[in-house]
Amino acid sequence: MRMQRSASRTVRLGFLLAALAAACTAPVPRNEPREAPAHGPGPLAPPRLADSKPINLPGLHNIVAYADGVWTGAVPEGDEGFATLESLGVHLVVSVDGAVPDVDSARRHSIRYIHLPISYDTVSQERQLQLAQVIASTPGPIYMHCHHGKHRSAAAVGAAAVVAGRTDPAAAVERMKISGTAPAYEGLWSAVRNAKPADAAALATDIGAFPSIATVTGLVAAMAEIDLVNDLVRTAKENQWQPPSFHPDLVAPKETRRLRDLFASLVRDAESQAMDAGYKKVLDRAIVEASDLDEAVRQGDAAKSDALFAALGKSCKECHQPYRDK
Ligand code: HEC
Repeated sequence: MRMQRSASRTVRLGFLLAALAAACTAPVPRNEPREAPAHGPGPLAPPRLADSKPINLPGLHNIVAYADGVWTGAVPEGDEGFATLESLGVHLVVSVDGAVPDVDSARRHSIRYIHLPISYDTVSQERQLQLAQVIASTPGPIYMHCHHGKHRSAAAVGAAAVVAGRTDPAAAVERMKISGTAPAYEGLWSAVRNAKPADAAALATDIGAFPSIATVTGLVAAMAEIDLVNDLVRTAKENQWQPPSFHPDLVAPKETRRLRDLFASLVRDAESQAMDAGYKKVLDRAIVEASDLDEAVRQGDAAKSDALFAALGKSCKECHQPYRDK
């Protein structure tokens, strides 16, 4: 049964790969800025509340304004992204995910980082107030991000802008729809819906003590890295497991080996060890899938690699739904 399924999948994927190869003779450079047409002319026009779609600028993606000068989007891509922010007058960037912020690139563009990570289950009231204090004490425009700028930074900036008195919950919820926040993250939506403006005294604080790199350890740190590596593996997969022309140093077996080792390391993670049997079952499966994926990529079996990458992606979701997002 198993053999049959994978055999027919191989045939289907063979057709698919042939079709893709035919369609991809002139690959589109992925890192080219794509302006939303609604945004108007001028490559570096700032994001505006009037934008009805996210905009993309060089090295910056999925940018949405939640109030005047209060913007969110994906993690800035190296020097290019921070140069764009600098030219828009941004001197403060806030990361709300678990990855280590690229403070060196930011510094080269006179940008300070503040790192206040959140999870997918809610934006705590303490975090909302801290983020609102950052907004209230920053005279110029501010950019908040998570990895893709869709879920966590959208909720973080939405709630914080409400607490800072710069928007209201209904308007922030509408902006989250534009950012692309998934409906399933109920805790993120309700944090914004229930956010309330703070008084001036609560907002006035010295933000100098907020960290530029927060201490993130254990499962969150491992997951932030898994997420980055998984994105690289996806990019390799989309290029038939070959190094893409726009990213020639992306070598698939190097990244699948990293992914395999990261998952294997979770067996020793204290938080994972304390989880119930349901969690361990999905984790064990993910460990096997990541290891099999690495092997399939090394064997040059594209069809099997595609199938294993998809299976691993399902395991991410299956574990996150009950154990991360609620
Ligand atoms: C067996 C369970 C399990 C699997 C499988 C799993 N995760 Fe996670 N992940 C978690 C848990 C639990 C958290 C929340 C940790 C916390 O906030 O304490 C998390 C958090 C995350 C985060 C948020 C990290 C941050 O910045 O705070 C990302 C991103 C993530 N996972 C990506 C992935 C990806 C991508 C995969 C699959 C390739 C994956 N995870 C597979 C359990 C899992």
